[in-house]
Amino acid sequence: MAVMLGLLPLGALAADSPGEQSFLKHCASCHQVGGVGLTGLAPPLTIHKSSSLGARTLLPGGREYIPRVMLYGLVGLIEVGGERFSGLMPSFSQIEDIELAGIANYLIRSLNETVVPNEFLAYSAEDFAASRGKGMRQVDMYKMRRNMEKQVTAATNEGGR
Ligand code: HEC
Repeated sequence: MAVMLGLLPLGALAADSPGEQSFLKHCASCHQVGGVGLTGLAPPLTIHKSSSLGARTLLPGGREYIPRVMLYGLVGLIEVGGERFSGLMPSFSQIEDIELAGIANYLIRSLNETVVPNEFLAYSAEDFAASRGKGMRQVDMYKMRRNMEKQVTAATNEGGR
């Protein structure tokens, strides 16, 4: 059934999805139940006062950020919600695209739901297939994230003026 979803707006997906089950299985050991994060171990994946995962997803090219972090991992000092993390996010490329897409939809639908509009197209297996084979390393993902943070900061400053 999930395989046949195709291009659905995010708002059409149920919140308590198989993606949540997969998240609990593969991700919650570090990011904790509900993606709230754990000081010194792994950052929250929820909305927080500095730029959230959801806000970055909406930048030009930002749709690719979550699939790429899940496929290639991430390493380097980051600041999330006023806390610093300097850990290592492993690659999850061994998981099938359809299951990865379910997890990504759980992240934006259930953990960043007030930031990401319902019209946002749900992630599909194709999004993940397209992000594979780019030969990116964890440190490349760090650079991508830094560039995105600069864009979010610039947008926030403009908005505040
Ligand atoms: C072994 C622990 C661990 C596991 C398991 C793990 N992560 Fe992570 N994750 C991290 C760490 C640590 C970071 C931050 C890396 C850094 O400091 O640069 C991170 C970062 C992230 C980010 C980027 C957050 C941001 O603010 O840009 C996302 C998205 C993410 N993880 C999603 C997931 C998902 C989805 C799963 C399950 C498929 C998962 N993680 C499993 C440790 C983990």
